[in-house]
Amino acid sequence: MAFGFHLHPASSRYAIDPTRVNETPPFDQPGLYAIGPNEYRAVIIAKLFTFIPSDLTIPKGATVHFMITSPDVIHGLSIPGTNVNIMVIPGQVNTFTYTFKRAGEYLLLCNEYCGAGHQMMMAKWTVKEE
Ligand code: CUA
Repeated sequence: MAFGFHLHPASSRYAIDPTRVNETPPFDQPGLYAIGPNEYRAVIIAKLFTFIPSDLTIPKGATVHFMITSPDVIHGLSIPGTNVNIMVIPGQVNTFTYTFKRAGEYLLLCNEYCGAGHQMMMAKWTVKEE
């Protein structure tokens, strides 16, 4: 896939069909993909009331290019202690790039009220020392 991340600003967006998220690449295979030396693409689906994938481990210093969308309602992805704060809108793919310079555990939180399970909508990433 040639998304040309290095040619774009840190964040950008494009549209997809929100009713076909599960069959629209790259969201047909959400996950973490190595795309360079300690550089990854994280393909994430935010939906009621979870992030897919949820728990991940990456090495310290990893640069992660987030690509995230929603098949249902508006969510948000924020990671306290970082400047990651991405609106997740059905029918839009939002991207953001962040480099995890500190080892430790990071919580991925939904920061847009999305319904009864909103408070439980989170994931945990571990950034480990190499
Ligand atoms: Cu998803 Cu709040």
